[in-house]
Amino acid sequence: MCGIVGYIGKNEAAPILLEGLKRLEYRGYDSAGIAVINSAGVKCIKSVGRVKKLEKLLLKKKIGSNIGIAHTRWATHGKPSIANAHPHFTTHKNIFVVHNGIIENYQELKDQLKKKGHKFVTDTDSEVIAHLIEDCYHPTRKDSDDKPKGHFEKAVKAALKKIIGAYGLAIICRDEPDKIVAARYGSPLLIGIGKKEKIIASDAAAVIGRTKKVIYLEDGEIAVINGSKIKVSNIYSAKGSEASGKSIKKKINTITWGQDEISKAGYNHFMAKEIHEAPEVIINSTRGRCIAARSLAKLGGLESVKKELKNISRLIIVACGTARNAGLVGEYMIEEAAGIPVEVEYASEFRYRGPIVNKNTAVMAISQSGETADTLAAIKEAKKQDALTLGIVNVVGSSITRETDAGVYNHIGPEIAVASTKAYISEIIILALLTVFLGKTHKNMSAKKAKEILYEIEKLPKKVQSIFGQEQIIKKIARKYKRSDNFLYLGRKYNYPTALEGALKLKEISYIHAEGHPTGEMKHGPIAMIEPDFPSVFITPKDSVYEKNISGIEEVKARDGKIICIATQGDKKISKLADDVIYIPKTIEMLTPILAALPLHLLAYYIGVGKGYNVDKPRNLAKSVTVE
Ligand code: M6R
Repeated sequence: MCGIVGYIGKNEAAPILLEGLKRLEYRGYDSAGIAVINSAGVKCIKSVGRVKKLEKLLLKKKIGSNIGIAHTRWATHGKPSIANAHPHFTTHKNIFVVHNGIIENYQELKDQLKKKGHKFVTDTDSEVIAHLIEDCYHPTRKDSDDKPKGHFEKAVKAALKKIIGAYGLAIICRDEPDKIVAARYGSPLLIGIGKKEKIIASDAAAVIGRTKKVIYLEDGEIAVINGSKIKVSNIYSAKGSEASGKSIKKKINTITWGQDEISKAGYNHFMAKEIHEAPEVIINSTRGRCIAARSLAKLGGLESVKKELKNISRLIIVACGTARNAGLVGEYMIEEAAGIPVEVEYASEFRYRGPIVNKNTAVMAISQSGETADTLAAIKEAKKQDALTLGIVNVVGSSITRETDAGVYNHIGPEIAVASTKAYISEIIILALLTVFLGKTHKNMSAKKAKEILYEIEKLPKKVQSIFGQEQIIKKIARKYKRSDNFLYLGRKYNYPTALEGALKLKEISYIHAEGHPTGEMKHGPIAMIEPDFPSVFITPKDSVYEKNISGIEEVKARDGKIICIATQGDKKISKLADDVIYIPKTIEMLTPILAALPLHLLAYYIGVGKGYNVDKPRNLAKSVTVE
């Protein structure tokens, strides 16, 4: 998804902006651009493709400048092209803007501005912001280059009040070359505070090479960064009238992870590194929280709402993609072991279906990035209806963590690969802890049961490690099936979500069509696809639905389909039925999705690599989806 970097300080801006863009590459993008400002004016250079290409173009130019903005674009309005890449600017090349988010009323604004003589050269919604600011800055200017009449900050505020939509913005103005204006509404933005420099960014990854001290802007805030000064104020007043312009005192936060955590540590891809981090991921997600000897799941982040949690009669989980798949595992866990009704919603659907929520409902977001626009919007909707809002989020200080009443952090360091793998493992682990936490708060779980679950969680890091011993087998299976055009993934109960996750990951990384279904649903439609050699992946650990899965396998076998199974170590029956088997260690039923997910993540990884794709940055995908 789009990335923003801005620089103002004592150093040469362009190399620092490029470095920041490189650190945002993992988010996915299709074009990039930079604009730096000096006494001669503004130099703006853009390119389609990788940041390296932009760097080459920049090396050819000598631009001395200490202020600039830069962007990686992920197309929403208009195809990837040099014109559509950011920064966008006005006809007079006075205002330059980089934007994340979507302007919903851009067409209406564009039509109005065109009538006033503004000339548009892109297909984007973002371009309208530059023109709108220019219009507020200098309402009478036509094509002449007369003296400025505006006030940059005021013009930005006035323009933003006319905009409907979401934005994270960094803006420079040729006529006021000593500052950057940044603003946020619905799209994350922070300001890194370095030694005699400030770095504006949409993601902390862009600043950690230079500083760990950051200020997070909240929705509706605007910052003017001028030399060493940062002034933050409100764009909108509470009643929609002119905001006072009074400075807001902002807290300086410290980022707790470092550059090492965003290196590949010897792996060929971040995705491989992150899958292999599973044992530490489990240890870090459970540290201080899983106290088996005392039958205790300690979730400090939920202590402040423990009383409210005692009174909830229903939990709704809102999430997208992989995070939603984890939520589905949580639904089975919490209903079966903690006795609380749970529903899992696509976050993107939640607010549009008029959800019935009240103060006895807890709405919990699951999100690795904490910035997914759909999930954030669902939480805002739940808040409007007085629900208790919770989060399971990895990125500390992200929007969802600030919007929710309470929550639990994953504590697994940054996830860089676009495909979410280690976050999935951690989210399920935290949901297992939450199951114990809720089961006990609601007095629906005995100490014995809690102890059993927690002891099993403690054993998981070793069990997970042993799965990597089968990597050669997984590679072989990947080679065997990488040319298949379609895959089915099937599982029941706890591993129905695993089937969804396996299919999602394969689609994302290898671009092979894959569908996940509950095994029992196969005969109601998907079975029509089975023909000789069509591969079906069955997730069949020895659990309460084992025999039911076996029937599904028989049905595929009867049609000469190929069968790949994820099975429990020592299961001899499966080895006779399946063409290929990947074994996972034995654990209690509710924790099998953690062990079963790893081979499926690895299978997707090796098929993607085998097909020669860039598995860390799959086409058309973005790491954090900050648009609706
Ligand atoms: O940051 P989030 O966990 O909120 O992201 C949710 C989805 O966008 C994400 O899981 C997506 O499905 C990944 N590409 C899956 O690998």
